[in-house]
Amino acid sequence: MRRWITHSEAETQGLGREIGRELAPDGVLLLSGDLGAGKTVLTRGIGEALGLAASEIQSPTFTLIREHRGSGGRLVHVDLYRLSVAETAALGLEELLAGPGVKVVEWAERLPFDVPGARSLKLGRLPEGDGREIVEGL
Ligand SMILES: Nc1ncnc2c1ncn2[C@@H]1O[C@H](COP(=O)(O)OP(=O)(O)O)[C@@H](O)[C@H]1O
Ligand SMILES: [Mg+2]
Repeated sequence: MRRWITHSEAETQGLGREIGRELAPDGVLLLSGDLGAGKTVLTRGIGEALGLAASEIQSPTFTLIREHRGSGGRLVHVDLYRLSVAETAALGLEELLAGPGVKVVEWAERLPFDVPGARSLKLGRLPEGDGREIVEGL
């Protein structure tokens, strides 16, 4: 089990770049953790690893699914924050997550099914300052 502590948004984004290189070209990453934990910031780094500008990666809270095509491959960015389990089940996500590209799911604790071969990270705020703890494989 891997575990990281980051002390700034920039560090979390840098960790995302490393993980993005590991995920390419077709991996799935499931992100869990509270609002503000850094899931979208980490996804920005993953986008950078795929040749996207960090500014292109925004919270998909209102759009549910955003797809990007970078010079290094495709990124599918999903956010389940506003969805009920029934709505999530109706989205066709299983097919999407089995399809091409790097797939990142925020609020993955709301996914009503297992994703074979997916990696997962749980992000959390540390009690003080800008620290974040990021733990793999929960
Ligand atoms: N170490 C850190 N890692 C990530 N984000 C941090 C960190 N310290 C402070 N922040 C701030 O926390 C917020 C994380 O927001 P965001 O990534 O949108 O969270 P989430 O997608 O998990 O709801 C940003 O405003 C960011 O600037
Ligand atoms: Mg987010």
